[in-house]
Amino acid sequence: MALITIQDFDFTRAASQPALHLGQWYCRQLERGHILFFPHIPFELSEEDRAFLLTQQQAGTGYHKNIAYRPHQDRITGLVKRSREEEERLRALMRTYSRHVTRFMAVLLPPYASRWRLDYASFRPQEERGRPLRLRSRNDLLHVDAFPTRPTGGGRILRVFTNIHPTRPRLWVTSETCDVLIERLAGTPGLPLPSPWRRSVWSCLRHGLAAAGRRAGLPLVRRSPYDAFMLRLHHYLKEHEEYQTSCPKQVWAFPPRSTWIVFTDMVTHAVLSGQFALEQTFIVPHEVLVLPEKSPLRVLERLVGASLTAME
Ligand code: SIN
Ligand code: FE
Repeated sequence: MALITIQDFDFTRAASQPALHLGQWYCRQLERGHILFFPHIPFELSEEDRAFLLTQQQAGTGYHKNIAYRPHQDRITGLVKRSREEEERLRALMRTYSRHVTRFMAVLLPPYASRWRLDYASFRPQEERGRPLRLRSRNDLLHVDAFPTRPTGGGRILRVFTNIHPTRPRLWVTSETCDVLIERLAGTPGLPLPSPWRRSVWSCLRHGLAAAGRRAGLPLVRRSPYDAFMLRLHHYLKEHEEYQTSCPKQVWAFPPRSTWIVFTDMVTHAVLSGQFALEQTFIVPHEVLVLPEKSPLRVLERLVGASLTAME
């Protein structure tokens, strides 16, 4: 896995042919499990906004992992003990951040831009070292990302991070890519292969009940076999002490004001220390991947010999 540093991306040539080719090349590197790295913040973020974010400490570490912003609802969650004015300011700031970073990503990665789904953004004001979180929520243990409440149905989790701390780096560890892990671990004890959806009386009944539950407002999540497997893999890695200690590791120190982009469902990663980061997530549909055969979904489907996202 490598860090690909981009120093001098020319945003003014965005719509040109060379920029499109370059965009395809960037997508290929991301899908291989490399990290795109910008030494300076490559989108607009005012000094005033950055200074305001640095004044924000999150009280009560227990329930909310981070402060999240939902762009489609223009809603902020995870705030503890804020005045109305402060909450409004943070919401406006996150709205602007989300728009700017999305515009930047669209110029950088044209093959994805027309089709991705804009997911949540987050602000991470807490020191990551020694955070008292439940094991499965801990981010200092190596893992691939899988969202328990927002299954992607085969879509890929692409995230862009910015370290806005004035002086300290954000320290990450990365390890193997998901395709390699799946080939080695899927089907071993503790990590069974997913089974495709089968049309049976029982499964029809189960899905019927789940749909009725959702209509009645119950927060039931319908996961494809792929999503269920990715969530199991996330838990398996965090719970596997032997894997955590013995896997090959690379350490990255992302300096203040740097930005990095990574498929976090591909690259096993953990954050060891650092405070104050901004992050925006995009769900990239499988159809627009430039190396679809390398995706976790395709690798798994090859092993199983059937579709793992097709609904019955
Ligand atoms: C993650 O594990 O997805 C979070 C990494 C970070 O906050 O730097
Ligand atoms: Fe993660």
